[in-house]
Amino acid sequence: MDRLLTGLQPSGSLTIGNYCGGISQVTKYQNEYETFLFVPDMHAITVPQDPVALQKNIKQAVGMYLACGVDATLDNMHIYVQSENLYHANLSWILECHSYFGELTRMHQFKMKSQKNESFTSGLVTYPVLMAADILLYDAKYVPTGIDQKQHVELARNLAERFNNKYNGNFFTVPEPMIPEVGAKIRDLVNPENKMSKSTDNPKASIFLLDTEKDIRKKIMSAKTDSDTLVAFDEENKPGVSNLLTIYSVFAGVTIEEAVAKFDGANYGELKRTTADVLVEKLMAFQDKYNEIMASGIVDEAMDKGREYTNEIAAKKYDEIRRAVGFGRV
Ligand code: TYM
Repeated sequence: MDRLLTGLQPSGSLTIGNYCGGISQVTKYQNEYETFLFVPDMHAITVPQDPVALQKNIKQAVGMYLACGVDATLDNMHIYVQSENLYHANLSWILECHSYFGELTRMHQFKMKSQKNESFTSGLVTYPVLMAADILLYDAKYVPTGIDQKQHVELARNLAERFNNKYNGNFFTVPEPMIPEVGAKIRDLVNPENKMSKSTDNPKASIFLLDTEKDIRKKIMSAKTDSDTLVAFDEENKPGVSNLLTIYSVFAGVTIEEAVAKFDGANYGELKRTTADVLVEKLMAFQDKYNEIMASGIVDEAMDKGREYTNEIAAKKYDEIRRAVGFGRV
């Protein structure tokens, strides 16, 4: 079975964007691939975190994965916490010494995040290398993500090829980004030019998986559209309307073409009301399941099982890599 791997930062409640770009692809392919689904808590501290909240968010993230339909009972499903496996950081250091400062400071996400703050940690610069280590440690072939992480997966590809060439061997599988056809970039509801984000300053801009029904309806009804009246899918000229059509399409389980046909002749109010109805139906069912899961012990069970298995695999891979670079004694 080929391997598929992805992770979602536990820096607060997940958004419907995280669902579309990350989790929905895991649930779609979980019977086809050996799946490594982890909580990248080490990535979360590239920006300041409250330690108590972070610990809570780690468990909640796994609860959300399961409530979205990830099946922890599958033998080929491994759910784990990044910091519970010390090989991620060890491999990351080796890869850092094979990455160029220039290639890291040219990353879009680094440029955006560093411009927002006067000072930032060096972890914000080296973060994509840790992400490469997450992927390469397990020889993952496919990495489901939204469009925003594509460049980071490309760095992981470059590092794998660079390392394999330098040390003359097939040490790492070269991974491929797996970007969904629909929902690769769910947009911010207030500024639809931007992507929807967990860490938004304006809570109206993002729909969180744990939002109340009232908030979901309010946010969708006040989502920015345009001064036209035609419901059409045109991401460049109608980003707000196209975003609502995308959200409807993903949560109603129809194609974009079917969504456009459904709203043929409808006004923006109808598009918003129907999109809100579908979201409320899906997210309320999700929240019932989530509450049930969090009250049971299955989250810890899944993380314990995943920790053991993935530590074994990572130890073997790390040993191979450390020998290749010449660590240790002869
Ligand atoms: P993170 O936590 O920012 O996002 C988790 C996943 O959600 C996707 N995503 C979106 N997809 C569509 N529309 C959006 N508005 C949207 N916002 C976020 C992201 O692309 C991602 O798939 N560095 C990663 C976490 C990570 C990782 C990894 C992922 C660490 N190591 C190894 C894959 C493999 C991150 O910060 O994602």
